[in-house]
Amino acid sequence: MDALKASERDEMLERAMARHQYAGEALIEILHTAQQLYGFLSRPLLERIARGLKLPPSKVLGVATFYHLFRFAPRHPHSAVICLGTACYGAGACDLLAEAQHCANLDSERWTIETVRCAGACGLAPLVVLDDQPCARVSPDALAEFFRRTK
Ligand code: FES
Repeated sequence: MDALKASERDEMLERAMARHQYAGEALIEILHTAQQLYGFLSRPLLERIARGLKLPPSKVLGVATFYHLFRFAPRHPHSAVICLGTACYGAGACDLLAEAQHCANLDSERWTIETVRCAGACGLAPLVVLDDQPCARVSPDALAEFFRRTK
C-alpha cells in the first residue's frame, strides 16, 4: 500500500464509505480499511471518517480506541506485540513487556511495542509476536537477544 499516492488512498477510502452507503454501522470496517490504506489512524483521518459517516467525532474516537488492533501513530520497521492475557500474564508477560520497553527505548526509531489481551494461543504462554512471527514461551533473555540481533 505504500506505493499508493495520497489522492488514491483518499479515493479508496471514499469508495469504501460509499459502498456502505455512509452508514454508521460500517464504522469498524471503515476504520480497518483506513488503517490498511494509511498505516495508522491519524486525528484528521478519524475526523474525516466521522464527517463521512455522519457520526460524532467522539464516537469514532471511542470505538477506535476501544479496539487494540487500531494504531494511532506510524509503525516502526520492527514490532513486538506482548500478550497480556491471563495465561501469558501468569507466565511472566509483565517481565517481557518491561524488557521490550527497555530494549525499544534504546532504539526508539525502529521499534513499535504493543500489547494484546489474548492472542488466542494460550498454550504457548508467554507469547510474543516479533515482526509478525508468533514466538512461544519467550523468556526475557531470549527477547533481549532478539532485539540485539535484529538490525
Ligand atoms: S493469554 Fe496470551 S495467548 Fe491467550
